[in-house]
Amino acid sequence: MLRFYFSGHNFEYEARNALRVFDLNIEYDVKNMDAEEPDFQCEYSIVSTLEEQEGAYISTAVLYRKKEKINEKSFKSHEIILEKENDRKMKKTLVTKSIHNVLKSHYSIVPDYGILTGVRVVKILIASRQYGRSDSEITRILKNTYEVTDEKIELLWDILNIEEKYINEKMNKENYNLYIGIPFCPTKCSYCSFTSFINCGQKKIDDYVDVLVQEIHATIKMAKVRNLKLHSVYIGGGTPSVLNIEQIDKLFAAIKSHYDLNSIREITFEAGRPDTITLEKLQCLKNNNVTRISINPQSMNEKTLLSMGRNHNTQDILEKFQLARNIGFDCINMDVILGLPGENEEDALNTIEKIVNLKPENITVHSLAYKKNAELTRESSQLLKDYNLMRLMHDEVRESCRKNGYKPYYMYRQKNIKGNSENVGYCLPAKESIYNMIIIEELETILACGIGGSSKIMTENNHHEPLRNFKSLEEYISRIDEILEKKKNLLNSSLEGI
Ligand SMILES: C[S@@+](CC[C@H](N)C(=O)[O-])C[C@H]1O[C@@H](n2cnc3c(N)ncnc32)[C@H](O)[C@@H]1O
Ligand code: SF4
Repeated sequence: MLRFYFSGHNFEYEARNALRVFDLNIEYDVKNMDAEEPDFQCEYSIVSTLEEQEGAYISTAVLYRKKEKINEKSFKSHEIILEKENDRKMKKTLVTKSIHNVLKSHYSIVPDYGILTGVRVVKILIASRQYGRSDSEITRILKNTYEVTDEKIELLWDILNIEEKYINEKMNKENYNLYIGIPFCPTKCSYCSFTSFINCGQKKIDDYVDVLVQEIHATIKMAKVRNLKLHSVYIGGGTPSVLNIEQIDKLFAAIKSHYDLNSIREITFEAGRPDTITLEKLQCLKNNNVTRISINPQSMNEKTLLSMGRNHNTQDILEKFQLARNIGFDCINMDVILGLPGENEEDALNTIEKIVNLKPENITVHSLAYKKNAELTRESSQLLKDYNLMRLMHDEVRESCRKNGYKPYYMYRQKNIKGNSENVGYCLPAKESIYNMIIIEELETILACGIGGSSKIMTENNHHEPLRNFKSLEEYISRIDEILEKKKNLLNSSLEGI
């Protein structure tokens, strides 16, 4: 048990996030020192103060074991810079830095992403540039303010080098991207918490597709009224390849009635699970101008696939990959998860070597995230071991990708991610997925149809107004009019003045 005592601030969320970098399991509570003096009854206490002195802020954190002071760290506002001037953010950053640093000494861990706990790390570089910071200032922000390691700073710059072609304020405001969610899967994988319904009969899927088609038509019409141009389409899930050919054709017919599919720059279809892929479905996707598909191994180790409930083996992956190649797909993505239970560094290396041998254009390397609703229970806290293992695995994978001509082109992080690690998308030259970069960096409007997606409408001042669809099949089907009304209102109010 750990108790925070706060004085001069109330940044509980930031303190909790700093703690989670080091320990996912420890219980904590917070007391305000204006109301009560520390009694140091807990095993550990952190006294965190924020003061203003001569126009500068100073934050100090002191770590106690019972009454014994074991560590103290202080940071001053004039010692650091942020991506842009922001008083409140400065205060939060100082408080986080001081708490983070006393914990860092205590746990003897140097986290790769320093004090950062957010999802979108490259956005820091993008926002800093937009504010006019020079590249050397940005590196200083990452290194000195946020304490990111040199290796990760290099990764972030590599990614920005690819993403920067897609960052253009005028173009980004004119575009929109369509997400279509298919929330069905053949079995539930033990690590996964995405909305997905298992073993639904054809009737239920047919009913869903009918309503979805209605939503696609209405959404495209709304976008056209606002003069938005369709940049990319992403059909994800769940597992869209559980749909049969008639259902797939119905979805594309809806898009085709508004656009020439040939004119859409990127159309991704997640055919994730090899056990759902057939020659006829692949042919149907090709006929509908799909430009990019996913065939996801997650791991190339039989034992892991079995224990995760994937219902397919490595041979299925190889065969379905070859089938897709033979039909002519020239942009295939393969998802991998590092850190699945029972896997070590050799397993990760075995997986990545088998995958690069196939030469898919994209490889998306996830780190296992402990999801609240996933069957896979959290392993007991082995944080230091997790850090080292995940670092080794990512290093191996990165080196193998680099040697084989892949470059990192987007990355994001998640809550409760093993080893406080990251997810990285790699691609062969000029094969980056537009949709993935756009959604992660929040560059353009996303209009989502169906269950599992969330629309994000880019407003004039570059904010994003989110809108989530219902998660229950019954509610989605019965309340579609309500969904469409909300979407229309949000689109109209967000784009007012653009
Ligand atoms: C929305 S899922 C759909 C993928 C597809 N249905 C499949 O199973 O291949 C997209 C990806 O998220 C990743 N993923 C899902 N749950 C995860 C978890 N708990 N930790 C890390 N990655 C996860 C997997 O790599 C998965 O392929
Ligand atoms: S990983 Fe894919 S197939 Fe497995 S449950 Fe999640 S969405 Fe479904």
